[in-house]
Formats: sequence, C-alpha cells, structure tokens
Amino acid sequence: MYVNVAVLKETQPHERRVAMVPSVVPRLIKLGARLHMECGAGDAIKLGDADFKDVAFIADRRALVSDADVVLAVQPPALEVIDAMKEGAILLCFIYAGKEKALVHRLLEKKITCFAMERVPRISRAQAMDALSSQSALTGYYAVQLGTTHLARILPKITSAAGAIGPAKVLVMGLGVAGLEAIATAHRLGAVVEGYDVRQETEEQALSLGATFVETGVDARGKGGYARELSAEEKAKVAAVLTKHIQAADLIITTAAIPGRPSPKLISKAQVAGMKAGAVIVDVSAEGGGNCEDTKPGETIEVGAVTIVAPLNVPSLLGEDASELYAKNQYNLLALMMKDNIITIDWKDEVLAKTALTHAGKLCDEDSKPAAKVA
Ligand SMILES: NC(=O)c1ccc[n+]([C@@H]2O[C@H](COP(=O)([O-])OP(=O)(O)OC[C@H]3O[C@@H](n4cnc5c(N)ncnc54)[C@H](O)[C@@H]3O)[C@@H](O)[C@H]2O)c1
Repeated sequence: MYVNVAVLKETQPHERRVAMVPSVVPRLIKLGARLHMECGAGDAIKLGDADFKDVAFIADRRALVSDADVVLAVQPPALEVIDAMKEGAILLCFIYAGKEKALVHRLLEKKITCFAMERVPRISRAQAMDALSSQSALTGYYAVQLGTTHLARILPKITSAAGAIGPAKVLVMGLGVAGLEAIATAHRLGAVVEGYDVRQETEEQALSLGATFVETGVDARGKGGYARELSAEEKAKVAAVLTKHIQAADLIITTAAIPGRPSPKLISKAQVAGMKAGAVIVDVSAEGGGNCEDTKPGETIEVGAVTIVAPLNVPSLLGEDASELYAKNQYNLLALMMKDNIITIDWKDEVLAKTALTHAGKLCDEDSKPAAKVA
C-alpha cells in the first residue's frame, strides 16, 4: 500500500513557485507516498526533473492526476484538472473560494476533499503548516529590497572622509507577518524604522524589532487577530496623526489587509503630494487594490517626485525560497493525515477541520466539523 501523490506544474501567469522541492521528497516517501510530478514543474526555479530523485515525471496532466490520491499545487488548478481527478481524492492548494465559484462547484460535484492553504488556522500548533505566514514573511523582506533599489539613497548612516550621511527613515504600515518582517529587515539594514497598525497589540512587537510605534489612539481589533474596517471618523483621526510621519519618510512599506475586504486606503493622494522628493512607497497590498490611493496594482509609477511600486504575487518573485517553505507547509499538513501508508483524516483535529473547504460533496463551514456535516 502507498499513497499516490501528484504535483502539478503551475500554469498561472507569473507564478514561479512549485509545490514540491527535492528536500521534501524523501520525507513524503517515508510517510508512505509514491510521488509523481508534471514534467517541467520546477522549471521556473531552475529545478530540472532530474533534480528530483525517486519521483516519476508525467507530461500529461490529466493522466498525472487521474490516479492520484492526493494532488498538490500552489494556485487553484484549472477545471480540467478537477475533472480528471478521482472522485473523493484530496487536493491541497490555495483556493480563495470567494473568487473561484466555478472551481468550488466542481470540487463539490467530484466530492473532492479540498484543503485550502489560506484557511490554515492562525494558532500555534498550525504554524508549521501556515503558508500565509511563510509566504508573507518573504514578502515583507522583499518589499524592503524593492524599496532600496528604487531609492536614490542608502538606508544606514555612513561616515566618510567627505562627511556623514544620516540613516533613511522607513515607515511600515500594517504590522502582520509581512510588516513585522519588513521592520526587521529595514532595521538590520540600518534605517530608522517606524511601524503603524490599527491593532494596538502590534506596538510591543514593533518595539521588540527595533522600530518605534506610531500611536493614533484608534484600536480596531477584529475577529481572530485580524483588523476590522475603520469608521469615517476613525479614518480622519488616524490620517491627522499619520500625515507628518508619511511626509518625513524616505521609504514607506504598506502591507495592510482585512480578510475578505479590499485593501484599506492608508495613504491619500494629498498625502502622496506632500511626500519628500525621491521618496518611495512599496505597496504589497496591491493584490487587494493597494493601500495607497495612487497605487496601480502590478505597476511601478511616478507620482510627482514619488515612486510607487506595487508588485503582484511577491512570494513568486522569490520562487526558490517560497517553494521550499510552501512545500514544507504542505508536507506538515499531509503528515497530520498520512500514517502507515494510508490517509486517515481525523476530523476532530482542529487544523484539518478548519483548513478543509470541501469534503464529500459538502462545503465545510470554517467553524463546523465536516464529519458532522457528512454524517
Ligand atoms: N500561529 C499564529 O499564532 C499566527 C501566525 C500568523 C499570524 N497570526 C496573526 O494573524 C493575524 C493576521 O496576520 P496577517 O499577517 O495575515 O495579517 P493581514 O495580512 O491580514 O493584515 C496585515 C496587517 O494589516 C493590518 N491592518 C488592517 N487594516 C489596517 C489599517 N486600516 N491600518 C493599519 N493597519 C491595518 C492588520 O491589523 C494586520 O496586522 C495577526 O494577528 C497575526 O499576529 C498568528
């Protein structure tokens, strides 16, 4: 007995990640997996098929998944992949069901048990499976790197025979996983860093990473550790405090997000107009529309003397490390359900129950256990 695991080559434009890396293969085999991958799955991160030992490569993706007990991917697969899967098989990937209605419909029709990586609960026990966090940490790091390449100045203070140059001022807005990593990176590079978030509990985290915290007097903690949307009055109060910090910054990194909502606008056109000449905004919330009113998702633009960089799918730009961490996240999730060469899903396990999106033809509510629903 063994568990047939198939890994897809990503097909969405600009997606460079792959859901399997060579270091994870032996670990999965130890759990009882037999591995198959689509030919060229690692091409985008310069991993040839020959770099994966003990994996069978198959060119035809329909043939690849038709025999699989488990299919692994990064992005939601094409409908034809679901059609070719065995009824009752397991799929692990990001889904974002709100944007993928047809796909979810097909998952239900084929009775696929789908674990959506974005649904992994944000609890300590699930940290090793938390792909949102692993990918966001890389995003936070890279946001600073992108910012420095667009700035015409350096971040640290340096002293030369010709005189001293003071450190750059970096403001990080939105202190979730990406924002905190951005603070740590900018601080390591010698910048003077400020952090801001509507969740007051982030103040301590910002301070521990070497930043100061911009206090606005507005606390907007929402459900499950996420932020809620601000009222018009709260927005005005926040803007009044933030303007002078925005205008003093050389580099601003924005990462603010509210689950299921467009990105909150933290920087207005008027605030951009008042920024220092040569300043740079790196808006990594571009996927949700961006945190700056001037942001054009996927583009780098000049607004007056300010550069606004708004990359999409940032983890994919660091495909090698992003794939390594993502593959380990998926391995850790699989390890919860693979034992003695078979798959046994314990629906009493909070991590599996909350991550499941569909099972046995039913949608799994975030707060209910699929077993109860199926029964
Ligand atoms: N295992 C764990 O315990 C674990 C792991 C990861 C994350 N978390 C928690 O999950 C939560 C979400 O983290 P995330 O990185 O996914 O966040 P996220 O991507 O949902 O949002 C990024 C940040 O934007 C902030 N934000 C939203 N609206 C804002 C506004 N108007 N102005 C300023 N900031 C605003 C949020 O408070 C958040 O800190 C956090 O509480 C984090 O600590 C817990």
